[in-house]
Amino acid sequence: MPKCPQTLAPKSIMEESSPSDSRQNKPKQSQFLYQQPGSSCINGELCRKGRYIDSPLANCESNDEIRSTRYENMTGKAYQKCINPDCGAEFECRAVTDGFKCPNCGELLDVRYNWDRIEVPDKLSDFSRRWASRDKPLDFSGVWRFRELLDFCDDNYKVTIGEGQTILQQNDAVAKYVDMQPGRLFLQYEGLNPSGSFKDNGMAAAFSHAKMVGAKSSACASTGNTSASVALYAHSCGLKCTVFIGSGRIAFGKLSQAMDYGAQTIQIQGDFDDCMRQVQDVCIRLGLYLLNSLNPFRLEGQKTIMYRIIEQMGWDVPDWIVVPGGNLGNSSAFGKAFYELRQLGLIERIPRMAIINATGADTLNDLVNNKKLVWNNGRVDQAIIDDYYADLTARGFSPHTCASAIEISRPVNLKKCLRAIDVCNGVVRAVTDEEICDAKAIIGKYGLGCEPASAATIAGLRHLRSEGLIAADQRVACVLTGHPLKDPSLTVNYHKDKLGQFSNPPIEAPNDLEEIIRLIK
Ligand code: F0G
Repeated sequence: MPKCPQTLAPKSIMEESSPSDSRQNKPKQSQFLYQQPGSSCINGELCRKGRYIDSPLANCESNDEIRSTRYENMTGKAYQKCINPDCGAEFECRAVTDGFKCPNCGELLDVRYNWDRIEVPDKLSDFSRRWASRDKPLDFSGVWRFRELLDFCDDNYKVTIGEGQTILQQNDAVAKYVDMQPGRLFLQYEGLNPSGSFKDNGMAAAFSHAKMVGAKSSACASTGNTSASVALYAHSCGLKCTVFIGSGRIAFGKLSQAMDYGAQTIQIQGDFDDCMRQVQDVCIRLGLYLLNSLNPFRLEGQKTIMYRIIEQMGWDVPDWIVVPGGNLGNSSAFGKAFYELRQLGLIERIPRMAIINATGADTLNDLVNNKKLVWNNGRVDQAIIDDYYADLTARGFSPHTCASAIEISRPVNLKKCLRAIDVCNGVVRAVTDEEICDAKAIIGKYGLGCEPASAATIAGLRHLRSEGLIAADQRVACVLTGHPLKDPSLTVNYHKDKLGQFSNPPIEAPNDLEEIIRLIK
């Protein structure tokens, strides 16, 4: 990774600009264009690497040029900023860097806001007024009705297919299973989104950005849900899409969606981490717009899951958020959402967060709890990560869990997630497949159901309750990330083959009325 020459002292965890931050440069019309590989860059040079980055600076491969001109582009409401405090490079939102990484130092990018240029409501409950105008698609959208909190593009680019009409259900029966008091456990059903998972929140935002930069084709690697969501959104706003999935690694419901929604589906002989590596290179070579959670605009959309939880709690925050951890986009987005709300004075306290891995894919759990990896004001100990991944490679390790959505061993948002853990005083736990399947059956029986990865939340909450870290009377919101029909095979096998303590197998009956009546309990 090239070393970044810039050294800027961090102002705070997120290095946010405060509303009083003044940027001296006059607003300037952006000259950044979306550029196809091999086409001429704005400076008149041929793009040497054939990269599709729309920033002419990136095409010129000169860090000096990137640095010297970057500030004049920061005059709008939003911009991108490298999360590495020793770099802190900034780019305008219309710049699309290779793999959405900082061209200076290779780190992840954030979307940041000049809050003083945005009309943020004085209090969160002011967003309620949009309910009265929900005949307008942007006010109906569970993402865009909070648009001042993710104000990176003009309304004419905004994409919505009605995402985010989700329910926060108080569930006392599931509360009993995790030994919590009635009225304290809430389940956030993100499976009610158009493609059946939380991904749609992120795609509404990311595809808006894709339209803003003039992208024509999109791609993603996926454990299933991203591919379904990308396919649905791509075709609703006229982009082509290619999805990469690990052969035999995704649940049938999700595979059926990708094909049905018309995605070009490429099954790679490998796992998700292999697909993730390939898709980044493919996007650079072919000029495709990347929709994995490396894309910081996607994470902006996922922040709204937290806004909706707060909304449904009467504009109050819970004590804990519990979320499954895979590629760690959600946890990263949630931490950023709470940090910003607190910074804006819209909430008084930040809830704690528990991130739950499956034991067969527990990189975060291992790194945080055993290797003691921490955010450290952005100066994460890279050697710990490098050693860990080198060991995975040396052992030929491939993650395995029945919760295929979170079967990931090299989470791309690891560092942002460490930051979220810092912001939210977070904890990480890992749960077994058996615990996941049992929790899933309980959520199915007493709630609206969910897919296996989502049930890791309830399994993890049980751990945290028995440890006493979460009290029985604290208010806990678990994010159920995907719909139960995403993975019908696992559900059928669990019940039919009596694989768990809550199995509910079908009973064989002869075609005889008396026999049937005798069987009904
Ligand atoms: N739950 C479900 C249902 C998911 O599909 C995913 C991720 C996660 C949890 C983990 O979320 O990555 O934000 O930590 N699915 C991705 C995919 C990786 O390709 O569909 P995360």
